[in-house]
Amino acid sequence: MTDATSTRFAPSGEPVRVWDIWVRLFHWSLVASISTAAVTGFILGAQYIALHIASGLIAMALVAARIVWGFLGPTHARFRDFLRKPAEILSHLTGGDTGRHLGHNPAGGLMMLGLMAVVGLLAHTGLAGLGGAMKTGPFLSLPYAIGEAGLELHEVLALLLLVMILAHVVAAILESRRSHENLARSMVTGIKESRPGDHPSHLARAYPRLALLVIAILAGAIAVSLRQNTHAPAFAPVVELDEIFAEECTACHLAYHPSLLSAVEWREIMGGLDEHFGEDASLDSETNARITEWLISHDASTAQTRPAHQFAGAREDPTGSITETRAWADLHESLSERTFFRAPIYSKSNCSACHADAETGWFSPFQIRISKETPR
Ligand code: HEC
Ligand code: HEC
Repeated sequence: MTDATSTRFAPSGEPVRVWDIWVRLFHWSLVASISTAAVTGFILGAQYIALHIASGLIAMALVAARIVWGFLGPTHARFRDFLRKPAEILSHLTGGDTGRHLGHNPAGGLMMLGLMAVVGLLAHTGLAGLGGAMKTGPFLSLPYAIGEAGLELHEVLALLLLVMILAHVVAAILESRRSHENLARSMVTGIKESRPGDHPSHLARAYPRLALLVIAILAGAIAVSLRQNTHAPAFAPVVELDEIFAEECTACHLAYHPSLLSAVEWREIMGGLDEHFGEDASLDSETNARITEWLISHDASTAQTRPAHQFAGAREDPTGSITETRAWADLHESLSERTFFRAPIYSKSNCSACHADAETGWFSPFQIRISKETPR
């Protein structure tokens, strides 16, 4: 067998080590981490947020390490080996380039760059969303609107990544057929067979120790900057629940945080307490006025939380209900109706049966714990 550094001299038919162990490990670890992020993000939902974030961060770290290896790795790991000028890519795609590339061909190299860029952007938009919209992680000082925009972009990029991965797999299958070699297998074994007419490679030596050093310095710098950013207060202090509110409004259900609804909705509720969701919850007018004032002065417009933005959107006719809003239905569409009505949950309105932080008004995805069915 011939080493990658002597590719040019390999007699045809001779096995050549094209992909070094780090390139192969990178490739398959990226497959695993992106799959985990895709399944937790698209299918499993908010309850798996911790696993989703961990797999996304691992993917980003892998890409960062691969970039370093693209400058310090052996021949075919280098960007110089596979990033080509537009004219060469075009000529490859239109069949003008007949020789075989042992490493990534020009189109494959472009895809590789695109995939790495999208993974990097996904990690950053995800962190921006987590920071701005959920006030968690390194970017928690970002404004709420930037966080929500980050999350929307994150979703679009995630779909784009899936399409690109599909294109990458299809291209690898077609190219395997065309060139009569199993490209996926060579990404496992690292070995291809040299052939007459192969493009000569620009030979390069690998510097694994230097690469490791650069990666370690990068990792250290990131760890330090994250530490500096995350110890800001994680969340605006939750208003101490008002005493009278606590006394009058928690007899039948949890204390709904005032930030969950707009002032208009609270007025609607407080004006109709004698027919409150089928119950008579009426109060004397002085207490009513006192609670109304407190609710309104802490309504959704005063909070920077996700639910405050999600549930308070102007409704044509205020009903005072959270669970009847479109936003609430959308957030909970992954749950079956039955879940809400079994013991010990009993009602959609019983937020604290599934959200450990319900009374703070925060509803962090990290705090979702669906109460288990209690045996009779
Ligand atoms: C006599 C019992 C009772 C009292 C007292 C009461 N409520 Fe309710 N409330 C209900 C019932 C029943 C519902 C319907 C949801 C459910 O099944 O729990 C409800 C629903 C709500 C909802 C909507 C939740 C959703 O499903 O979207 C809000 C908001 C609310 N109450 C606020 C208040 C406030 C504010 C007070 C104090 C002024 C109060 N409630 C006092 C019985 C009561
Ligand atoms: C039966 C359990 C259950 C009940 C009851 C429940 N939720 Fe949820 N909620 C969930 C689950 C599970 C999710 C995550 C859904 C997903 O994305 O997969 C969720 C998601 C949310 C989110 C979005 C969290 C995020 O940032 O992704 C908000 C906000 C929320 N719920 C508010 C409420 C409010 C307000 C109530 C009460 C009026 C409520 N929920 C009642 C289970 C419940």
